[in-house]
Amino acid sequence: MKYKIPRGTFDILPKDSASWQYVTSIFRKTASSYGYQEITTPIFEQSDLFERSSGESSDVVQKEMYRFEDRKGRSFALRPEGTAPVVRSYVENNLGVLSPRTKLYYIGPMFRYDRPQAGRYRQFYQYGIEFIGSDHPYYDAEVIALEMEFLKALGLQKFHLEINSVGCKSCSVDYETALKEYFRPHLPELCGDCQTRFEQKPRRLLDCKVPSCRQFRVQAPSQIDFLDAGCKEHFSSVQQYLQQMKIEYRINPAIVRGLDYYTNTAFEFIFEGLGAQNTLAGGGRYNYLIEQIGGKPTPAIGFAGGFERLLLALEEEGVALPVETKPTAYLICAGEAALAFAMPMLRDLRAAGIWVDYNADKTSFKAQMKASDQSGARFAIIIGEDELQEGFVTLKNLQSGEQLRLAPADLSGVLLKD
Ligand code: HAM
Repeated sequence: MKYKIPRGTFDILPKDSASWQYVTSIFRKTASSYGYQEITTPIFEQSDLFERSSGESSDVVQKEMYRFEDRKGRSFALRPEGTAPVVRSYVENNLGVLSPRTKLYYIGPMFRYDRPQAGRYRQFYQYGIEFIGSDHPYYDAEVIALEMEFLKALGLQKFHLEINSVGCKSCSVDYETALKEYFRPHLPELCGDCQTRFEQKPRRLLDCKVPSCRQFRVQAPSQIDFLDAGCKEHFSSVQQYLQQMKIEYRINPAIVRGLDYYTNTAFEFIFEGLGAQNTLAGGGRYNYLIEQIGGKPTPAIGFAGGFERLLLALEEEGVALPVETKPTAYLICAGEAALAFAMPMLRDLRAAGIWVDYNADKTSFKAQMKASDQSGARFAIIIGEDELQEGFVTLKNLQSGEQLRLAPADLSGVLLKD
């Protein structure tokens, strides 16, 4: 019997690992420069945590969550997203006591029973940040700036930022009433899901992917017209801060977000060439979530992005990541005595962080030369009869053919300089 990987999941093969490591390292670096510290939470949590935070009626909870019972019949779920677990940990560990403004970032796999396609998987990797502890609009802009900085640091260009305000609890009431009024005459034309959404979460009617439902989106009332004075001011301050940082954005009143916890600012980073799964990252404010999960009322904002979509976007745009995929040097030895001479050198070069390969199974000089060419290494370190007798090494540049005669002790200096 041959085993197959579960549908919607993938292996990160060795040839791709360097790109993944590079992208995660740039995210870590960017998050650190904004003062964020890493948090790692378990891959599974009590399922109730997600039901409560993402919303009972959300697609994530209704259709996409991997739920299971443990041996004692307790209900758990593989995390479909990272915000609720981070907030759970924030409350459980009293992180707010250590610092009133808590800045956390995370990287890890999430699980959703989605219909797999390019850019959409059942196990996918998110990077995300959560800023907990202030309602100041400056932080909305700062969180957005971090993602912008990250994407630019990777060299991505063909993307844009869309922002919206989904208001607070009180201004949502009037808006949802207006939405219902607008959609009521069209109810018979809406899909089954939207008919349920109409009663439970009318805002989700704007987020439906079914084309016959989408046509009504254009004329639908906009939340922005229903913002109360406080929310309006917050939204305009966020924009002011973005403008001060010269961050370009588009206002898109149709940004709803699929999870229930959002208030005020909502935003998405869209890549312009990814087909249907073109949202690289999304997030927003969630000022009520912490109290909903049992903490003290504390405002917060964050976002998460998907690494797979990001890597697809980088590929689509033709951005070459500066990752090492080939050895710097390849060792070629004529026999055991030459190898004995090379062994301490090999250890020292590797200790200096230089990628050096050697093929112990190829005994002839010619076969080793061939292996060195095939490896794509930039240099060959050659130890033949002459080198062994006189105690030097030949460093051959495999691209130019140029050769240098060096003392073994000088080798790492030359390779590191190149
Ligand atoms: P989300 O919009 O559900 O938000 O997901 C964020 C990002 O994760 C998406 O923009 C996308 O890049 C990626 N993503 C989502 N589902 C999949 C999938 N099935 N396959 C591949 N990539 C996917 C959240 O998860 C919120 N927790 C974000 C947040 C943080 N809001 C506040 N703080």
